[in-house]
Amino acid sequence: MMKKPVIIKLGGSLVTYKDKPLTPREDVIKRISSEIRDVWLSGYKKIFVIHGGGSFGHYIASKILSSKKHIDEKGFAEIAWYMNELNRIIVKSFLEKDLPAVQLSTRAFVYKRGGEVVISPEPLRSLIDREIIPVSFGDVILSDKDFEILSGDELAWRSALILGADIVFFASTVDGVYDKPPEKGGRKIIEKIKISEEMNIVLEGSRHIDVTGGMYTKIYSGIDILKRGVKGFIFNGEVPGNIYKALTGEKIVGTVVEY
Ligand code: IPE
Repeated sequence: MMKKPVIIKLGGSLVTYKDKPLTPREDVIKRISSEIRDVWLSGYKKIFVIHGGGSFGHYIASKILSSKKHIDEKGFAEIAWYMNELNRIIVKSFLEKDLPAVQLSTRAFVYKRGGEVVISPEPLRSLIDREIIPVSFGDVILSDKDFEILSGDELAWRSALILGADIVFFASTVDGVYDKPPEKGGRKIIEKIKISEEMNIVLEGSRHIDVTGGMYTKIYSGIDILKRGVKGFIFNGEVPGNIYKALTGEKIVGTVVEY
């Protein structure tokens, strides 16, 4: 049977050292590449990888936003350049594992018009159809008159509709969504969040250099997609083997998000 396309967002704190500007986590990236290679070898050949900005995109964007208050042409170009840099590191690592991975720059197929995110689906669909692994990322995108940042989370959610996936995987640096804030002892991972109910989730790991928000935004940026029956799965990509297991359908610790 044809396997469904797999969509995985690699959080920025997973692939970079959040507190060290412009520093990739080379060893983690390497391990993730091996796990994706194993996923590939087990027969999942339609894989869309999206990564976050971490200490590349967020660092540069917050620097620009604090000095100029908005992203101008030069800022757009600069953020784009640094995101390409991080992307090259990740794509290179995939290539070293013999995976047919290629950059799919988000700003080249996603933009905003009248406040709505618009995606030109063809490049993404064609790559996936040919079993090439597109690697996109949270990025600066064009909107009607300015430039905006689109999180990798939002792209991941939206691409589920384009590719016909019924779940979006979020590999982060926490085990999932906790029932209590960190300072409270004895907290547990919530196995399933039904977000149609009053949602009382803990805003896990407030991340200071983030310009796109934490766990809450991660989930809420998917609300329209969740409403259409797509699920999300948030898990810890720092645990070796977790990415392979999650993507190939093995049960691991994490939080399922559904509407
Ligand atoms: C942010 O993408 C991209 C830029 C700041 C340019 P994300 O919001 O997906 O990044 P992480 O995963 O939080 O680092």
